Amino acid sequence: MTDTNIESILHENRSFPPPQDFAAKARITPAELAALATEAQRDNVGFWTRLAREELSWHTKFKQALDDSQAPNYRWFADGILNASYNCLDVHLAANGDKPAIIFEGEPGDSHTLTYRQLTVEVCRFANALKAQGIEPGDRVVIYMPMVPEAIIAMQACARIGATHSVVFGGFSANSLRDRINDASARMVITADGGWRGGKSVELKAAVDAALADSGRSVEKVIVFKRTGEPVAMREGRDLWWSDAVKGQRDRCEPAWVGAEHPLFLLYTSGSTGKPKGIQHSTAGYLLSTKLSSQWVFDLRDDDVFWCTADIGWVTGHSYVCYGPLAAGATIVMYEGAPMYPDGGRFWKICEKLGVTIFYTAPTALRALMKLGNELPAKYDLSKLRLLGSVGEPINPEAWIWYHTVIGKQRCPIVDTWWQTETGAIMASPIPGVTATKPGSCTNPIPGIDMAIVDDEGHVISNPDQGGWLVVRKPWPGMLRTIWGDNARYLSNYWARFGNRYYVAGDTAHQDQDGYFWCLGRADDVLKVSGHRLGTMEIESAFVAHPHVAETAVVSRLHEIKGESIFAFVVCRGTRPTGADADRLAAELREFVGKELGAIAKPDDIRFADNLPKTRSGKIMRRLLRAIARDEEITEDISTLENPAIVEQLRGRT
Ligand code: PRX
Repeated sequence: MTDTNIESILHENRSFPPPQDFAAKARITPAELAALATEAQRDNVGFWTRLAREELSWHTKFKQALDDSQAPNYRWFADGILNASYNCLDVHLAANGDKPAIIFEGEPGDSHTLTYRQLTVEVCRFANALKAQGIEPGDRVVIYMPMVPEAIIAMQACARIGATHSVVFGGFSANSLRDRINDASARMVITADGGWRGGKSVELKAAVDAALADSGRSVEKVIVFKRTGEPVAMREGRDLWWSDAVKGQRDRCEPAWVGAEHPLFLLYTSGSTGKPKGIQHSTAGYLLSTKLSSQWVFDLRDDDVFWCTADIGWVTGHSYVCYGPLAAGATIVMYEGAPMYPDGGRFWKICEKLGVTIFYTAPTALRALMKLGNELPAKYDLSKLRLLGSVGEPINPEAWIWYHTVIGKQRCPIVDTWWQTETGAIMASPIPGVTATKPGSCTNPIPGIDMAIVDDEGHVISNPDQGGWLVVRKPWPGMLRTIWGDNARYLSNYWARFGNRYYVAGDTAHQDQDGYFWCLGRADDVLKVSGHRLGTMEIESAFVAHPHVAETAVVSRLHEIKGESIFAFVVCRGTRPTGADADRLAAELREFVGKELGAIAKPDDIRFADNLPKTRSGKIMRRLLRAIARDEEITEDISTLENPAIVEQLRGRT
């Protein structure tokens, strides 16, 4: 399944030692990294226990470190009591209250800064506003916001009062929003009139209204932040403006002291089956993993300006915009809009303007920017940059080398960080002052993480030519705790394959002769479109909701910029459309699926067929379809197909 990937990766032999200048000042030296690794190997639980005591501020100290009595529903530091927002804000006030916490850049060019003290005041006022609206510890609050500081304020305010937030990416459609609100039984939605993206306003409030129109019995209140000033409908008794909600609220708010295992947030993500799953994260373990990884991987120093470009609607925006860097007391940059607005130099312009020192983005963005050439980055002063990061999908060596030379001027180490919504924090990555990097490899697990590659029987693979399942063999503090409302799915998705012994990531990978990990992609039906995670089943369900569609199979093909793009084979009710009819219906279906799920799920290719290739037992032959979509040679035995002639039609030749 992964042979071709392994082939191509085996040819990548370049290795880049950390630049000396960087290594000389790095937070973690080779000796320190070795000491951390040895400590973790000797006593993994003891290692995390020590760090949890040192790195987190506890209201009541924990006595119990790892509780594995309900494994694989692990619990960490469970009898300890703390508050996440206190650990991100209050702990910095005495020494660093006037340090910038968030430097915001709006798409139209407006910009402002919030110090830790100012951010704390805003969070407290909004937390008091939430309480005034009746939100209590344990309530779920959905956040559907543009990338403005108020999104972070809303998340931190929920954390402060012990409410569990569930952020929904602003690019998701009203339908997707509705499903997530319902699954979480949210009592409140926090949104904005809209946000600026690509020079246009994205109408968030209108989507909330649509989502709540035919459901949303659980939602009692909607708080609306005014960002664009475009007119929106406000429903009497349900909707109120952010500015009215905080009016008269005190600027202090005693944190709700919650247990270490209290659910800090849910974040919905796609799996192999239709329904997105609400990944549930804890308070203490999550915060510990995100704080430590921010410090170790990003080498954070007091004067750094850290910019993670991820939207807060994804896990990267939770862990490396909202929680990790703030827990570490860093200054972060937050940008509202599109990377290409008004042109493809915007990222580099922001780096120059705000003096960004650490830049963390996704390969899909790098590929799109690389395509525009070297003139745009050359226009800006990028000399403050000292460290670059990549996340979300494998980075192809060509993009890596461009990042290294054109953006990093061969001065900045690149940290290629492998992790998932479920892992909460970075699991494998170079440590920038220590690890020699290889383009396309996330190198090694960070201290405390026990990753391995195993075969179908669960045996560890040591042969560097052989790919296998990426697993984690020991629990770690930042791991997901369950799937909201569906623990059975948690157990079967992540643990059942190897009898609860290992956490199964769902990725395939291999280790080279130096022990470096190379992630090869997903082993299941999860697609990565522009680094965004989508399930084939989700997209297929959206298709079949259209009255003309009888059946569909969605696969991915490789795409120069998006990494993967969506390719749908569609069987219509009635006769198969051809010519202009087919074009018309394909355009209609693209819009339809976009409306059902959000623009990111719009298929690039739609091909109509009389039927789909199935095995005798009725299973759709996805590998065959993927080979067709990618114009690859067909290696499957197609003699067992009901109708072998269909292959020519699926290839678009008849
Ligand atoms: O396949 C891996 C890929 O992204 C998946 C997780 O997606 P998501 O939960 O959306 O989280 C993305 C941000 C952490 C993984 O199963 N992936 C993530 N980072 C990398 C990667 N693949 C290769 N290299 C990476 N650095």
